[in-house]
Amino acid sequence: MVFKTPPGVYAPQDDTWLLTEALLREDITADTTVLDVGTGSGTLALAAADRGAARVTAIDVSPLAVGATWLRARLKGLPVRVLQGDLLTPVADRRFDLILANPPYVPVPGRPIRRGRGLAWRAGTDGRAVLDRICRDAPPLLRPGGVLLLVHSGLSGPDRTLEQLTGAGLRATVSDRRTIPFGPVLREQAPWLEAQGLIAPGETKEELVVIRAERRT
Ligand SMILES: C[S@@+](CC[C@H](N)C(=O)[O-])C[C@H]1O[C@@H](n2cnc3c(N)ncnc32)[C@H](O)[C@@H]1O
Repeated sequence: MVFKTPPGVYAPQDDTWLLTEALLREDITADTTVLDVGTGSGTLALAAADRGAARVTAIDVSPLAVGATWLRARLKGLPVRVLQGDLLTPVADRRFDLILANPPYVPVPGRPIRRGRGLAWRAGTDGRAVLDRICRDAPPLLRPGGVLLLVHSGLSGPDRTLEQLTGAGLRATVSDRRTIPFGPVLREQAPWLEAQGLIAPGETKEELVVIRAERRT
């Protein structure tokens, strides 16, 4: 049966695929515990389970995303536990070997939202409302030697991500970069981004980065 991402759930796109490529380079065994935070359609969680991780947890605040991921995992017979909740809160007492995150990161006017259109991308005026929380809350959940893979736009402060994760004691580097044309969201935001000086006049491309941060043993 072919699974189609339901309306209201983030359909996998360039950021999903860039993070999937990074994920597939990691050493995943049946002992690897994986967390996918902000799972959306569950693409990353399913890729980790398909790669052999026996214990994969996927979290999303959206009930629609939770339902879609649960159904997709069942249809594929993959061992993914799906939880509804706010970022890392539902797993605050657990530890992981690999944490994956493709969170909302687009700088937009106004405050981040908790439901409705834009939940997947709206991230406050600097794009960091969710990123800053992940940089603060994910490092303590990594086992020694554990890895956080985080994808976001070059417009949302990769240097701040590196600084915060390094400050938390992780070895953090940009592992992947890809320049892509603006999608519908950035095209819509372009006049505001230009007015903020976040993009040059007439800019039509953004760079995506994957940040890989490893907890020392
Ligand atoms: C950019 S989408 C990424 C979806 C998927 N991981 C992928 O790569 O295709 C971000 C996801 O984060 C979820 N999200 C937004 N805020 C959240 C929060 N506070 N806690 C958990 N999930 C959240 C959204 O519902 C959305 O599914």
